[in-house]
Amino acid sequence: MKQKVEDLDWKNLGFVYRDLPYRYEAKYKDGEWQEGKLIENSTLVLSEGAEILHYGQEIFEGLKAYRREDGKINLFRPDENAHRFALSAERLAMPPFPEDRFVEAVKQVVLANKEYVPPYDSGATLYLRPFMIGTSNVLGVQAANEYTFRIFAVPVGAYIKGLNPADYIVSEYDRAAYAGTGQAKTSGNYASSLLPSVEAHKNGFADCLYLDPREHKYVDEFGGANFYGITQEGQFVTPKSKSILISITKRSLLELAKKQGLNPVERQITLEEAFIMKEAGAMGTAAVISPVGSITYEGKKHVIYSETETGPVTTKLYNELVDIQYGKQEGPEGWVQTID
Ligand code: PLP
Ligand code: COI
Repeated sequence: MKQKVEDLDWKNLGFVYRDLPYRYEAKYKDGEWQEGKLIENSTLVLSEGAEILHYGQEIFEGLKAYRREDGKINLFRPDENAHRFALSAERLAMPPFPEDRFVEAVKQVVLANKEYVPPYDSGATLYLRPFMIGTSNVLGVQAANEYTFRIFAVPVGAYIKGLNPADYIVSEYDRAAYAGTGQAKTSGNYASSLLPSVEAHKNGFADCLYLDPREHKYVDEFGGANFYGITQEGQFVTPKSKSILISITKRSLLELAKKQGLNPVERQITLEEAFIMKEAGAMGTAAVISPVGSITYEGKKHVIYSETETGPVTTKLYNELVDIQYGKQEGPEGWVQTID
């Protein structure tokens, strides 16, 4: 059933799927991308032999539209999502979707569902989910030769616990292999994180923290966000790893942290070092910046900063990032695209 705008409670949206009026669809056939268009039907019809159903040829993105105080709408670095989508496509042997068309299609979906962009100051945003799947029939393990690209939109609230500290547990499982698909945004990485996250939730944790898959010694990332820590010396550190997603929020925070004098660096971080960080957080489009309250490992809980309060460095980074996204503060050139 289509979501009626008048039935939305902007302050209690959660992070759940809703069927909005319009989505964008383009198909790849005979070696090229066809012209795409906005459509109303949220359903996809697939053959039982479709590649996606057997060998997982799928990639996706996540980005947000923000309602500004003046009523206009901001997109945050959509060109970066377009570019990562192309990189993910390459890793999954899929035809890249042209980056300019990606950004254009995102704008079309936002404008078509404009009244679903939550009000300024509601704390909510319009989340956009571009994805691509292999649709042609296969039996042997091989890449498809037909694909569907779509973008749908959903108004959302906080993904983790917003700016309240959350508890994490170090997973015994890996989400991605060392030279596997961890840097790509593809469903398989998330499929491998489902059982660990079900177990983590059952035990009262917000999510898992994964270690590097080769040595299980260094911090990799969370199931749906990258990790950062603030060292005792006040340095912003975030893992360098071949098996984590190349996060756009992380790359943005590396720049903001530099401006704030936090001397940011990407490097390996041992789990023991993570336990003694002054502050730590999860960063991502859905997560925004969400403080880490504790990390549990082998039955022992390590509190980072506080289980109830958010540290000053995290708060300052959060405020600056969010102010830029909502257009309250000017960000570095090209980060924000305003549409109305
Ligand atoms: N890591 C994982 C596994 C994610 O799913 C996400 C979310 O997209 C991120 C990191 C953060 O990436 P970004 O900041 O580009 O949203
Ligand atoms: C995002 O932040 O956009 C993501 O894709 C994370 C997802 C686990 C909700």
